[in-house]
Amino acid sequence: MQTKIVPAKDGIEEGASLILSGELVVFPTETVYGLGANAFDADAVKKIFKAKGRPQDNPLIVHISSLEQVRDIAVDVPSVFYELAERFMPGPITLILKKSDKIPSVVTAGGETVGVRMPSNVWARELIAASKPLAAPSANRSKHISPTTAKHVYDDLQGEVPLILDDGACKVGIESTVLDLTVDVPTILRPGAITAEMLAEVLGEVNENGKVIKIAKAPGMKYTHYAPKVKTVCAVSIDHAVKEYDRVKSEGQNPVIVARDIYRDKVQEREQISLGVTVEDYARNIYSALHTAEERYDYIIVEELGNKGLEASVMNRVEKAAGGNRV
Ligand code: TXA
Ligand code: MG
Repeated sequence: MQTKIVPAKDGIEEGASLILSGELVVFPTETVYGLGANAFDADAVKKIFKAKGRPQDNPLIVHISSLEQVRDIAVDVPSVFYELAERFMPGPITLILKKSDKIPSVVTAGGETVGVRMPSNVWARELIAASKPLAAPSANRSKHISPTTAKHVYDDLQGEVPLILDDGACKVGIESTVLDLTVDVPTILRPGAITAEMLAEVLGEVNENGKVIKIAKAPGMKYTHYAPKVKTVCAVSIDHAVKEYDRVKSEGQNPVIVARDIYRDKVQEREQISLGVTVEDYARNIYSALHTAEERYDYIIVEELGNKGLEASVMNRVEKAAGGNRV
């Protein structure tokens, strides 16, 4: 199969007709690129698992373009869903609800719940509005880093999907917050740009257990995610990063420091990939930096951030990329 990359604004009609004929389409979102299929078409959804090499027991998120669509996707929708939707949708959040019978079980990996998300990327919503709600995971090969550009997708899924809708670099850069609304106290299963503090403002209380418990609860989290192809470590400070760089270099390896520009004076002439200046820059750039780093270097040293808010959400991904390795 030939894989075509088309600017998103020019490809909505073609994308919609592929979706309606049971094919896959890659579409941009504000978080990462998604690999979409008609969420009501079990055979189409099966192609997602095949294209990605994704385990069958990892459920998919259903992407919508308007709240009316929720009626076909979920049942017993609690009022907090609409309160959260009012505040955060469209945006980088996925809410877990009780699934309707119209959603085939392959979407939810056999489970009774379904994730619902309305992306803020306008082309994602145009595509959905012109076709169907889309079941979609991140558009990477299973276990690789999530894609934040069309090229990242192409490098991973070339030949597996007919069309990639290109809308440049994703604005948020890490995957949506996943919040379970089917339990007594809404519970964060995956942290993201919508933080526990922001959710608590609407809900009063949010269950955000210790990091390990949080991660273990999302079914997909038992797999290694977000991992570059080369050894990756997280450095607790820029001095540690520099020291590790020099150590690895002296052993004849080809390392790189992935850090924000504020540390240029410490990094000096060593190889660096910039993450920008702010924490938001860091989130937006991290996957792209890891993609570049794994192509050009054989040892990646990443700057560590703090453990609150967006910094904690980003660190959740970096810790996985580093497989827990810290220096
Ligand atoms: O930002 C995002 O969420 C991106 C874009 C494309 O929308 N999508 C994404 O999908 O990251 P994926 O499949 O790569 O990650 C979805 C995560 C997985 O960890 C999965 O286990 C969890 O959400 N998930 C999906 N449905 C669930 C459900 N019904 N219950 C619990 N966890 C669920
Ligand atoms: Mg993923």
